[in-house]
Amino acid sequence: MKPVLRVENLRKEFGGLVAVKDVSFEIFEGEFVGLIGPNGCGKSTTFNCISGLLNQTTGKVEIYGKDVSKMRPDQIHSLGMTRTFQHTRLWREMTVIENLLVPPRNQFAPSVIKSLLLPKSRKAEEERLQEAYNILEELEVPHMAENLANELSGGQSKLVDIGRSRMGSPKLLLLDEPVAGVAGPLAMKIFNNLRKTVDETGISILIIEHNMDFILRQGVDRIIVMNEGEVLMTGTPEEVKSNRAVIEAYLGSAGEEE
Ligand SMILES: Nc1ncnc2c1ncn2[C@@H]1O[C@H](COP(=O)(O)OP(=O)(O)O)[C@@H](O)[C@H]1O
Ligand SMILES: [Mg+2]
Repeated sequence: MKPVLRVENLRKEFGGLVAVKDVSFEIFEGEFVGLIGPNGCGKSTTFNCISGLLNQTTGKVEIYGKDVSKMRPDQIHSLGMTRTFQHTRLWREMTVIENLLVPPRNQFAPSVIKSLLLPKSRKAEEERLQEAYNILEELEVPHMAENLANELSGGQSKLVDIGRSRMGSPKLLLLDEPVAGVAGPLAMKIFNNLRKTVDETGISILIIEHNMDFILRQGVDRIIVMNEGEVLMTGTPEEVKSNRAVIEAYLGSAGEEE
C-alpha cells in the first residue's frame, strides 16, 4: 500500500538551531495517528515543512508519491492536504458559518480566493453552505452557526477551526494541538469525532498532542513519538506505553513540562 504522506530524513535548521534533526515516518490511508513529544521537540516545524510554509534544510516530503518539497502551501493544499495551526486563526469578526465558508490564510493561492469570492452558480453556493452546516451538525454545534468568532471560548474556537479544516473534504488532515487548553470532556469528544470521521470517510489524520497520558487513551491507530528533533519510536498506544526509551524520555526532563 502506498503511503498518503511520506516524510524522509527531514531536517530543518534555523541558523545554528536544529529544530528538526532527522525525522522519517509514513501515514497510510484511513489512519488516525498521533504525533507526540515534549515542547520544542520539532512537531510544529515538521508540520510547517510538510505543508510548505517552511523549506526544509534537507530531506524529502511526499504526498501521494509526489515530491512536495518545492511546492507552495496552496499547491500542497490542492493535493488534498489541509492543516490547522497551534494558535487558532479564525476570522474574529465573522460568524462561525462564515468562518467555514471563507478559507483561512496561508493555504490558498490568491486566484483560488478570488474564485471563491466571485459570484458563483446558486447550486455551488448552496452546496458549500450545506457542507458547512453538515460539518457543524457532525460536530454537534449547529446552534453556533450565527455566533461571532470573537464571542467563542477557546475550546469552541478550536472546534470551529477543526470544522473549517474539514471543508472541501481533504484526504489528509494535519491538526496541530487541536485540544490544547480544551476542557477534558470536550477534548475527548473531539477525538471521538475525529476517529468517527476517519472510520466513516477513510481520510487520514495526523494529530499533534503533547499530553502523553491523554493520547494513549484516545483510540488512535499509531503514535509517533518525537524527542529533540528525532523520532524516538512509532507504534500502537500499547507499544508506546511499554517502550523503555519513551518511559525514560517522559520520566526525565520531558515529562515535567506543563
Ligand atoms: N521560525 C522559527 N525561527 C527560529 N526558531 C524556531 C522557529 N520555529 C520554531 N523554532 C524553534 O525550533 C524548535 C522546535 O519548535 P517547534 O517545532 O515549534 O516545537 P514543538 O511544536 O514540538 O513544540 C524550538 O526550539 C523553537 O524555538
Ligand atoms: Mg508546536
